[in-house]
Amino acid sequence: MKSILFVCLGNICRSPVVEAIARLEFERAGIDVYVDSAGTADYHIGEQADSRSLASAQRAGYDASPHRARQLSAEDFDRFDAVLAMDNRNLSDILSRCPAPQHGKVDLFLRYAGVAAPLEVPDPYYGNDADFRRVIELGKTGMEKLIGRLRITA
Ligand code: 4NP
Repeated sequence: MKSILFVCLGNICRSPVVEAIARLEFERAGIDVYVDSAGTADYHIGEQADSRSLASAQRAGYDASPHRARQLSAEDFDRFDAVLAMDNRNLSDILSRCPAPQHGKVDLFLRYAGVAAPLEVPDPYYGNDADFRRVIELGKTGMEKLIGRLRITA
């Protein structure tokens, strides 16, 4: 089975929501992909997703409540086929920890998904409701594009 790890900074706002969207949309599409998420930082290890993320996800029909935050680990580069960053800072942090032969599996989520622009899912942590809704919108758009791509290459 193919596997994708979604990565942001804290693993409480963006990547848990994108993981939840990906899990449901892959299931709806009948595509067998294992999904997980992690953070580059250790600030929130063991915590649930941010309550604002949980609420915006739930309003859109996605359940991120089982999630508990964890930090990106060295084994993730062996375990996952793709390690996808939410923004350019996440991307450079991931690449700085990733062995050179595995750099090819690391990318921005939205670029990998085939979204033309924007390529970043902006950090909503210090933002407002609209910023959290934007995470959902970009997650849904990215997954639509990614599933479309997988159908073409399948
Ligand atoms: P995330 O958002 O990377 O989407 O989970 C953040 C969560 C926590 C912090 C920053 C961003 N923080 O500074 O604690």
